[in-house]
Amino acid sequence: MKVFSGTANRPLAEKIAQYLKIPLGNAEIRQFNDGEIAVKYNENIRGIDLFIIQPTCPPGDNLVELLLMIDAASRASAKRITAVIPYFGYARQDRKDQPRVALSAKLIANMISTAGANRVLTMDLHSASIQGFFDIPFDHLYSSAIFVDHILKMKLQNPVVVAPDIGSTKRARAYANRINTELAIVDKKRSGPNKIEAVTLIGNVQGKEVILVDDIIDTAGTLCSAADLLYQSGAKKVIAACTHPILSNNAVSNLNRSALSKIIISDTLYLPEEKKSDKIDVLTSAPLFGEAIRRIHNEESISSLFNI
Ligand code: R5P
Repeated sequence: MKVFSGTANRPLAEKIAQYLKIPLGNAEIRQFNDGEIAVKYNENIRGIDLFIIQPTCPPGDNLVELLLMIDAASRASAKRITAVIPYFGYARQDRKDQPRVALSAKLIANMISTAGANRVLTMDLHSASIQGFFDIPFDHLYSSAIFVDHILKMKLQNPVVVAPDIGSTKRARAYANRINTELAIVDKKRSGPNKIEAVTLIGNVQGKEVILVDDIIDTAGTLCSAADLLYQSGAKKVIAACTHPILSNNAVSNLNRSALSKIIISDTLYLPEEKKSDKIDVLTSAPLFGEAIRRIHNEESISSLFNI
């Protein structure tokens, strides 16, 4: 087994390698003057069970880098190539819900398979049904395995889990089951990408401490508007647990100014200094990915990881 990292989140890849007690493989990722990417493995990978760690977050170069790393590994006769994609980008267009739109999640799935990946390992897909876009083995981890313990240690009073939109209901229900609380749902209407039009609460949060559960924080508009609604509806405290911190534009200042008292995120995406905040707690996903990789390599079951 060898583990290699793209450039999108090397600190996470290093932690995963540390968990596995192996050094990260030596691969060279360079850019031509015009920005095109060139990839080269600097060690023999023939016959190797190869894991490539690269979240496909913006910019699009991260995806291209992953595809090139898969292609190079396949041409260098790696025995099996697993694309470890801690954050699977371009997932928000996963069905044709309007005429003349792209099905980006399906296209990306095709590209990863065509490049030569033999399997995929990821966490908290925007929609679990994206697994069906792949005809290769696909392992899907859940951030609840990392977040639930942390939330329980916060000893929230009279807690309730809230889904900040209808699409997050299933994920939020899984949290509610594990934390043993009720579930409420915010009905969010969008007028375009990142534009929230209206929010309505389904359920009761009066006098409760709320855990908002979502997969992505992009502009933080979803979380901030949901938090406002929850306080207006009588919540005593609102925290958020979100797996993938894209944190684009003014997301961090929006979160700092928001009514949310704490935001828990994972390290599936690299968090630069300027995106850090006292309000944001980062939990590492490295042991979960490391353990999944170890089990995939040893052909052991990883389903028990889903139940932690
Ligand atoms: C949407 O369906 C996702 O689950 C997130 O709620 C959304 O992508 C978050 O975006 P933003 O932070 O820009 O509201």
